[in-house]
Amino acid sequence: MCGIVAYLGKKVAQPILIEGLKRLEYRGYDSAGVALLGSDGIRIRKTSGRISALQEILDEPDSTQTLGIGHTRWATHGEPNTVNAHPHIDYTGKVTVVHNGIIENYDTLRTWLQNEGVKFASETDTEVIANLIGYFYAKDADGQDAELPKGQNKFEWSVQKALGELHGTYGLAIVCSDFADMLIGAKKGSPLILGVGDSEYILASDASAIVEHTTQAIYLSDNEMVTVSPDGFHTKTIDNVTVTKDLQQIEFSLDQIELGGYAHYMLKEICEQPKALSTCMGGRIDKRNERIKLGGVGDHLRELTRTKHLILTACGTAFHASLVGEFLFEQLARIPTETEYASEFRYRNPVIQDGTVVISISQSGETADTLAAVEQAKERGATVLGIVNVVGSSIARATDAGIYLHVGPEIGVASTKAFTAQVTVLTMLAIELARRRHISSTQAAEYIDELAQIPDKITQILQQSDHIKEIASANIDRDNWLFLGRGFNYPVALEGALKLKEISYIHAEGLPAAEMKHGPIALIVDGMPAVFIAPAGPQYDKIMGNIAEVRARGGKIIVVATEGDEHIKSAIGEADHLITVPDAPEILQPLLTVVPLQLLAYHAAVLRGHDVDKPRNLAKSVTVE
Ligand code: AGP
Ligand code: GLU
Repeated sequence: MCGIVAYLGKKVAQPILIEGLKRLEYRGYDSAGVALLGSDGIRIRKTSGRISALQEILDEPDSTQTLGIGHTRWATHGEPNTVNAHPHIDYTGKVTVVHNGIIENYDTLRTWLQNEGVKFASETDTEVIANLIGYFYAKDADGQDAELPKGQNKFEWSVQKALGELHGTYGLAIVCSDFADMLIGAKKGSPLILGVGDSEYILASDASAIVEHTTQAIYLSDNEMVTVSPDGFHTKTIDNVTVTKDLQQIEFSLDQIELGGYAHYMLKEICEQPKALSTCMGGRIDKRNERIKLGGVGDHLRELTRTKHLILTACGTAFHASLVGEFLFEQLARIPTETEYASEFRYRNPVIQDGTVVISISQSGETADTLAAVEQAKERGATVLGIVNVVGSSIARATDAGIYLHVGPEIGVASTKAFTAQVTVLTMLAIELARRRHISSTQAAEYIDELAQIPDKITQILQQSDHIKEIASANIDRDNWLFLGRGFNYPVALEGALKLKEISYIHAEGLPAAEMKHGPIALIVDGMPAVFIAPAGPQYDKIMGNIAEVRARGGKIIVVATEGDEHIKSAIGEADHLITVPDAPEILQPLLTVVPLQLLAYHAAVLRGHDVDKPRNLAKSVTVE
C-alpha cells in the first residue's frame, strides 16, 4: 500500500518528509517523491525505486521550505517510473498533489480536460486530480468571478469543486504555490490522519509517520477535508459543511515501530507474540470471576448470543484466522457460521437474514475488499462488527462496533502477531458466547485458564528457532511444498503455506490432510517437503495415515507434533524433521502450531536472500481492489 506524508510548521520540511516516508516503507511501494514550497516556489523531486534513490536526487534542505508533501507510490494506473511517480503538478504549475487510491472516472475527466486544452505529462489517474483542481483554480467559476462562500479562499473552493467530480477513492495532500502557508488534505476510502503538534502539523496515511512528532491526532472520515495553516486547522465536508473533530491519542509509541535489535520486523513481531497476546487478553480475561469482558461489542452480545447466522469475512491471513473462528463458533458456541473471502462476499449477492451478524477481520482496517464487504453487509441490514488492529482505521469506523487487537503496529508485510491476536479475540468471543448459550461456567473457566497459558507456551516454541532454521536450510532448494492439517489445524496449514509463499517465493499449497488422496498426492515426488500439523487430538491417527501415504511416495516429512509424543518418532524417517509444541486443547492449538510455520517461512526467506519485510509485489495493506 502507498503512503502520504505532509508537513506544515516552523521546521524545514524536507527531512521530516523523508523520515516519515521511511516509516511507511513497510507498506510496500515502487516509487517515491516530495514537493517543497519555499521562497523560490514549488520544487518537486521524484523517482521510481526506493526512498534511498529519491535521497540521491534531493537538493540541500532550504530553510524557507516549511511546507511540503511526500508520497510512496504503489502503482495502479501507469507503470512505476519517474514521470508517473508522485507528486503531480497541474498544467498551470500552481497546484501539486499526492494521492493514495484509485479515481475510477479518471478517463472521462482526462478526456474532458484535454478537450479543454489541458496537457498531461503522465499516465496516472492522479494527474487528473491535479489538473482538475488547477482548472477550477485558473478558471472563474461558470464563466464569471467565483462567488466564494463566506470565509473560503479560492484554493479550498477549487479543491472542493474538483473532489465533487471524482468517483473512486482518495487520500490526498494538496498545496498551491499561491498559498505558501496552506496545506489541504481530503479523504475518501484511503486513510488520512492529521497529527497536531506545537504549531506544526503532520498529515499522513498512517500514524507511524506521525508518532515521533506528536501523539495527538484527528482521523478524517470519508468525504471530509482539512485545511491547515500556521493559525490552526479546520475540518469540513467536501460540500463545505464545517465538521468538528475531536483530538485522539495515538496509542502506540515510537519504540514499537523501531526494530529493537531484531534483523527484521517480521522476526520482531513473531517474537513479540507472547507479550502481544498477553496485552490482547489483558483486561478482557477475568480469571477470578471466570468471565470474559469484550467491552467493544458489549451492546451486541445479546444479539450475538441469539443469532442463528454468523458470517466472518476477511482477506489473506485474516481469512485464515476467520476460518479458525468459524470452527470455534460452531464447535464451542454451536452458532451456524460461515467464512467468506471478502473479495467474493462483496460480489456474490450474499444472503443476509434477519438477525445475521457479520464480523469483519482486518489487521490494517484499510483492506479495500474487506471494507467493501462491510458496506455491503450494512446495506443489507446486517449488524456488522469488526476485529481490527489499527485504531481509527476505516473498517474500525465503518462497523457498528468492534474489538481492537491492541497488539501495536504490525510493520512486516507478512502478518504474524495479528493472526494469533485475531484468533485470540475470536476464541475469547466464542468462549463468552458458549458460556451464555450452553456450556457451564466451569467449562468456560477451564478454557479461559488454558487460553491464559498460551503466551508462555509460545515462548517455549520460540526457543526452537535455530532448529527450525536448520529445517528451512535443508529444504529451501525445493520449489514446491505442501502444508497439511485437519480440523482446527487445517486453517493453520493454509496460513503456513501463505507465509512461505509471500516471503520466500516458494510455491506452497495448504490443504485439509484428507484431501491428499483426492488429487494432490499426485504431486508427491522424491524429497518434496510436506509439512504436517499433527498435534495430539481426535484426528491424530488419521493424520498419521496421511504421513505414511506421503512417505511411501518419497515425500520429505516436516511434522509439528505435541511435545512428549513418542509415537511420532516411529512414524517419520531419519531424514524427516520434527518440531514440537506444548500440549493444549484442540481449540487452542492454532495459536501454537502456527508459530513454527511463521519461523520456517521467515528463515527460508532470509536464507534465500529476500527482503523479508518488503517482499516483492506485496503491500502491507491492499487498499485497492
Ligand atoms: C498476510 O501475511 C498478508 N500480508 C495479507 O494476506 C494480509 O493478511 C491481507 O492483505 C489482509 O490484510 P488486513 O488484515 O490488513 O485486512
Ligand atoms: N492510483 C494512483 C497511481 O497509480 C495512486 C496509487 C497509490 O495509491 O499509490 O499513481
